[in-house]
Amino acid sequence: MSKLTMEELVAFCNQYGFIFQGSEIYGGLANTWDYGPLGTRLKNNIKDAWRAYFIQQRDNSYEIDSDILMNPTVWEASGHLSSFTDPLLDCKECRTRHRADNLISGHTSLVNADAMTQEEMLEYIIVEKIPCPKCGKSNFTDIRQFNLMFATQRGVTQSNSNVIYLRPENAQGEYVNYLNVMRTMRTKLPFSIGQIGKAFRNEITPGNFIFRTIEFEQMEYQTFCKKGSDEEQYDYFKDYGIQFFESIGLSKEHLRYHDHEKLAHYAKAACDIEYLFPFGWGEINGTHNRTDFDLTRHQEYSGKSLEYFDEQTREKYIPYIVESTYGLDRTFLAVICESLEEELVQGEIRQVLKIHPMLAPIKVNVLPLIKKRHSEKALEIYRMLQKRFMVSYDDSGTIGKRYRRGDIIGTPYTITVDDNTLENGIVTLRERDSMQQTNITEDELKTYFSEKISF
Ligand code: GAP
Repeated sequence: MSKLTMEELVAFCNQYGFIFQGSEIYGGLANTWDYGPLGTRLKNNIKDAWRAYFIQQRDNSYEIDSDILMNPTVWEASGHLSSFTDPLLDCKECRTRHRADNLISGHTSLVNADAMTQEEMLEYIIVEKIPCPKCGKSNFTDIRQFNLMFATQRGVTQSNSNVIYLRPENAQGEYVNYLNVMRTMRTKLPFSIGQIGKAFRNEITPGNFIFRTIEFEQMEYQTFCKKGSDEEQYDYFKDYGIQFFESIGLSKEHLRYHDHEKLAHYAKAACDIEYLFPFGWGEINGTHNRTDFDLTRHQEYSGKSLEYFDEQTREKYIPYIVESTYGLDRTFLAVICESLEEELVQGEIRQVLKIHPMLAPIKVNVLPLIKKRHSEKALEIYRMLQKRFMVSYDDSGTIGKRYRRGDIIGTPYTITVDDNTLENGIVTLRERDSMQQTNITEDELKTYFSEKISF
């Protein structure tokens, strides 16, 4: 894992076009970040990897793209209007707002704030005289539950009946379409619906860069199954999650499970996969056994039957749902933390992003050894590869400098065009991590990269 601090990682992302501060020229907007050209490619490549793993390589698995704005009754039925809250309190001295559970866990690791009631948290904060992290005094208001959903108005008149919400999770879009997917895909239980999309939460606590933001993307995956098979599915997806993270290059020792004691209003069992970030362990995935809670509630609130008819047993029942949900931005951050390294090469520090070739924003950097003599041929090869892969062309500075420029943004391969190319069609291929150089003919390049740049 990167030994770099969060500040250094933020600076790296900014310097190389991965992530910029949101609304930067206006002084920013807290907890918002914009993805730059290389960051956007990396993010899309993570999405593609997830898609390959969850949609393409699994049977009975379907991707949808549902709207962010939904009928507000969805959020009544899901319980988000009443229960999707954070316990907040204010410091009476400096007016800073805090999450009560974070105050406790930041103060001691001896108690688990997640398992405490609101009253227990307040009592603990008072008895232990937990200080405000900003001003150091211990004088707080009562705890209030603060709803995390962003509300907006539909139409031109401002009235409560026009309030609609930006979705705080993707899942509900998948639940309300469960019948549509089952009917049109002519599928049977168990089957899964996945979705990649934005979610919005009015988070007030500091974000640790893109770890906690108010607008973020989730890759959510819901498996609809028969009651009784839910626990097996739950165990399966916990394991599958670790496999997915390993497949994109996160190492096992930086991943761990965190089973929940206090469960969300919809869950029978819940477990996170956490990654060891420079600031400590943080959740990147959550797997939840949501039972028949969601579909039962949607049936109740919509008045539409959401029962499944089991042709084999002739039974009718509401399916159980096992959800495995992945934070795209947090996965992005984990990939950067895992891959960014500094190493000593011939007495000089080499910064290199040792990212999986499939995730690399640019796959191949094409260089002419001598600009005047080799650029025409190098450009020809660049154009040929560009039809299949994201590639770059670089003819400025020494070869060493050009190698380093590719290394730092994670480009896994560099090819150099020289006299041997002009005379024999042979290029020099350099591999990013080992820095080893080999010869390969230009005719072999497309096949070679197609094999290397896949999972
Ligand atoms: N549908 C279930 C659900 O949304 P969650 O644990 O609240 O569950 C799922 O969120 C994932 O979304 C988390 O594991 C995390 O990776 C990501 N996530 C949640 N809140 C986030 C935030 N404020 N900023 C960035 N990612 C977030």
